[in-house]
Amino acid sequence: MTGRQVDRPERTLGLIKPDGYPVHKEDIFARIKTAGFEVVCEKEFTFDRKVAETFYQEHKERPFYEELVTWMSSAPISAFVLEKVGAVRAWRDLMGPTNPQKAREEAPDSLRALFGSEAPRNAVHGSDSQQSAQREITLLFPDVSPVPPKPTQIVEEE
Ligand code: TYD
Ligand code: MG
Repeated sequence: MTGRQVDRPERTLGLIKPDGYPVHKEDIFARIKTAGFEVVCEKEFTFDRKVAETFYQEHKERPFYEELVTWMSSAPISAFVLEKVGAVRAWRDLMGPTNPQKAREEAPDSLRALFGSEAPRNAVHGSDSQQSAQREITLLFPDVSPVPPKPTQIVEEE
């Protein structure tokens, strides 16, 4: 007999950045709920600069890195773990493109189109892969499992 996991929920990490928090928090969470995510946990805090540097380490050599890290550690933000089937992709889709101007052209109902202004001020963050989600959740929520504890398992009989 072989087992195959179907429609397995996954987790992703979201942030409401300093331009979105706290002003757009209520609207953003309303859209998160409407889109069918479970909010596993949420906290409000200000990034320690060193933690922000670690969070964005993949961009260390990019020209926008310094401005990004300085801005992200300048004011309180909201961080949360979302769960749903295909959560990483679904949360990226709800956020829209990185550049808010592009978001307004291509995905006018997305969070970055609605609440962002100009990069890096694009209101929200979302992990870009399951691997990134696990790294980011572990960094910001060390006591929270980065994957759902009990995946749905459907066993198909041959
Ligand atoms: P990136 O990981 O490429 O985008 P995303 O947030 O969609 O995964 O970049 C991280 C953040 O850096 C992005 O949300 C905003 C900022 N940024 C800039 O300020 N300028 C840029 O040219 C890029 C690509 C990103
Ligand atoms: Mg990214």
